[in-house]
Amino acid sequence: MEKENKIKVRDLNLWYNDKQALKDNNIDIKKNKVTAIIGPSGCGKSTFIRCLNRMNDPIEGIRITGKVFIDGKNIYDKDIDVVSLRRRLGMVFQRPNPFPMSVFDNVAYGPRIHGIRDKKKLKEIVEESLRDTTLWDEVSDRLDKSALDLSGGQMQRLCIARTIAVKPEILLFDEPCSALDPIATGKIEELIQELKKQYTIVIVTHNMQQAARVSDYTGYFLLGEMIEFGKTKELFENPKEKSTEDYITGRFG
Ligand SMILES: Nc1ncnc2c1ncn2[C@@H]1O[C@H](COP(=O)(O)OP(=O)(O)O)[C@@H](O)[C@H]1O
Ligand SMILES: [Mg+2]
Repeated sequence: MEKENKIKVRDLNLWYNDKQALKDNNIDIKKNKVTAIIGPSGCGKSTFIRCLNRMNDPIEGIRITGKVFIDGKNIYDKDIDVVSLRRRLGMVFQRPNPFPMSVFDNVAYGPRIHGIRDKKKLKEIVEESLRDTTLWDEVSDRLDKSALDLSGGQMQRLCIARTIAVKPEILLFDEPCSALDPIATGKIEELIQELKKQYTIVIVTHNMQQAARVSDYTGYFLLGEMIEFGKTKELFENPKEKSTEDYITGRFG
């Protein structure tokens, strides 16, 4: 049975001033699956993923046309409240960016902003989020210590814990492992497999092996266009487009 589409992108175009960065993107993103976006540097991967939570909106000179439906509602409609939209999509970036505060306060940050004051409740959320990101056993004895003293991989998992502490529906990862060593990368990849049981995941990566390992579906971007999209195994083993084949076999990019 076909799984439900959580996100549907239709005829999405984006310009930075007069330079077009996304061209007629159409893509269906399935619920509780991992969708990878691959392609060479500068092809529009980050621009694309930032359109899914309207993070590009504040950029000066930007123009966006087309539609992005989440659960059937176009998030570019005028009546959308962007603040509540962003709560539904957590974002994790290339460089781990914990706040300069304790491990506990990093994870409790979002829930506190959302008005949770009860200490016991906050403790529960922090522990659950840290367990769900496989960090609990590593940090449970240093919750009051600065998050900036953790290793790079731990910091990135902490950022994921901070993101899921506010219970989003969708997780957006923009090259989450490019600043990490192979062991830390492996942990994040394992974690993504666990998290997809609860979340719909979109991951941008320029690492094709990573896309092949972690994703169910893959989209190949080139110069702002989605050249090919399909089940990851099919796209890697039997690409339909010559340009996809050239890219994944390393002849280009
Ligand atoms: N804020 C911006 N203003 C102007 N141009 C931008 C901006 N961000 C990205 N671009 C341009 O848009 C294109 C796509 O960039 P990006 O989405 O960052 O690609 P990728 O993530 O695949 O490396 C590039 O040519 C880049 O220079
Ligand atoms: Mg990028």
